[in-house]
Amino acid sequence: MRPLPTVCVIGAGACGIAAAKVLHERGFAFDCFEASDRVGGTWVFDNRNGMSSAYRSLHINTSRARMELADFPMPATYPDFPHHTQIAAYFDAYVDHFGFRDRITFETKVTRAERRAEGGWEVTTDGGATRAYDALVVANGHHWDPRWPEPAFPGCERFGGRQLHSHQYTGDDPALFRDRSVVVLGMGNSAMDIAVEASFAARQTYLAARRGAHVIPKYVFGRPLDTLGVSPRIPYPMRRRVQARMLRLMVGDMERYGLPRPDHPFGAAHPTISDDALSRIAHGRITPKPNLAVLTERTVRFADGTEVEADVVVYCTGYKVTFPFLDPELISAPRNDLPLFRRVFHPRIGDVFFVGLLQPLGAVMPLAALQSEWICDHLAGRYALPPAAEMQADMASERAAMFARYVASERHTMQVDFDDYVLATRRERRRGARRAARAGHRLPVPPRARTGAVA
Ligand SMILES: Cc1cc2nc3c(=O)[nH]c(=O)nc-3n(C[C@H](O)[C@H](O)[C@H](O)COP(=O)(O)OP(=O)(O)OC[C@H]3O[C@@H](n4cnc5c(N)ncnc54)[C@H](O)[C@@H]3O)c2cc1C
Ligand SMILES: NC(=O)c1ccc[n+]([C@@H]2O[C@H](COP(=O)([O-])OP(=O)(O)OC[C@H]3O[C@@H](n4cnc5c(N)ncnc54)[C@H](OP(=O)(O)O)[C@@H]3O)[C@@H](O)[C@H]2O)c1
Repeated sequence: MRPLPTVCVIGAGACGIAAAKVLHERGFAFDCFEASDRVGGTWVFDNRNGMSSAYRSLHINTSRARMELADFPMPATYPDFPHHTQIAAYFDAYVDHFGFRDRITFETKVTRAERRAEGGWEVTTDGGATRAYDALVVANGHHWDPRWPEPAFPGCERFGGRQLHSHQYTGDDPALFRDRSVVVLGMGNSAMDIAVEASFAARQTYLAARRGAHVIPKYVFGRPLDTLGVSPRIPYPMRRRVQARMLRLMVGDMERYGLPRPDHPFGAAHPTISDDALSRIAHGRITPKPNLAVLTERTVRFADGTEVEADVVVYCTGYKVTFPFLDPELISAPRNDLPLFRRVFHPRIGDVFFVGLLQPLGAVMPLAALQSEWICDHLAGRYALPPAAEMQADMASERAAMFARYVASERHTMQVDFDDYVLATRRERRRGARRAARAGHRLPVPPRARTGAVA
């Protein structure tokens, strides 16, 4: 038994606990710092960390079959698309089942993680303590820092109604929408859920968007759509044609609902999933509109020149990827873009790793578990990265393919197809295991710091 590097995990949301579980099982000395008093991050409604974007009515839109961890299935009583309270309870039970709750330091926020010149990290928490670690695992989530429209829409400063971002929406204030005229901006999943919810209380709900989306249902043929697995061994264009044809048959053209015709083919945007939005449009309770143009004191004018009275505007315009504890000169994600090797490894900094910093078509959690196994293999000398030039070429081709496939938008900077990612990771881990064996299982991050040692 040789000493292993010490590790600091930032965050105990779904992805941080996946990392902590593997580090715990593999015998690493590590600390996991969590700002909140509990695990689960996003899935803890009204989380005292102030970072959760969950609203009271939130259900997952990736099916439980996609989301549950292979070694800890969700309870059999759970429905296909559980409520956020069930998801939060599931993550809580996961930590107890694998027995690593005492490895998490709650109510402790990392305020700074500074890289030492010789490698390794000095991690400072809000209590003021600074500790040294050999490696850093970043799992602080990327759906908590609201992205407001930039630049702001002209006139928004004189708008007399309420303006809020979906991050602030909780569904707890029954007066917010009741008998009001509500404008919801965006065509992502927050916009769908919030527009539907508004449509049951508001005088009228307008769904404004700068581009259309292919709205897809949760269920087809009586099964969750995302469980109709199509093998990643089938070339993507063929898979896309089959899926697009199936949806065209089941849902039809978006223009038939009065929604804008998407300016991109099916599969070129992060999926917008809703069983209810099209129905509420069909019932006349949601009126589609183009993008906002100008706000006046009482109205919203849209890009086509039409104007409506408005009491509330909800900006469902997505989130920024930020790491407030890191020096932005060292690591940051301008326009939400942080290039990484296979969404885990920094190409130049060998002792920092990212878990869950991706947007899968499919759920995040099983991929976070896979990434965590991979990182631990690497830290234990059982997986070696390819040479730098190979890594750069791999990243360049992966990014080129992603940017070619997806609509140019800050929401499409880290898209992965779930099954393809799993397959590619398995293959890469096998290749890297052979490289590691050839290198004599050398530890890529030298163990120097004791955990808990004051820096
Ligand atoms: C409304 C909504 C619905 C979603 N629905 C789905 C879905 O159906 N399926 C799906 O797969 N994904 C969904 N997602 C994506 C979601 O991001 C993931 O499900 C998952 O929550 C990501 O987990 P995470 O651990 O990366 O981040 P988070 O859940 O954000 O957890 C991050 C944790 O890190 C902690 N933290 C952050 N900074 C610090 C710090 N400096 N120091 C200490 N602790 C820190 C936070 O307190 C938090 O507990 C949804 C996202 C949103 C916003
Ligand atoms: N029920 C659920 O499980 C659920 C619910 C909500 C959210 N989520 C998840 O949470 C994540 C975030 O979703 P989200 O919907 O909040 O954000 P998102 O997916 O990033 O969507 C943002 C939307 O706002 C638009 N937009 C951004 N900036 C704009 C601007 N300046 N002017 C006009 N439109 C603008 C985008 O348009 P462009 O496409 O043109 O950029 C897009 O339609 C996703 O992973 C989503 O799946 C899940």
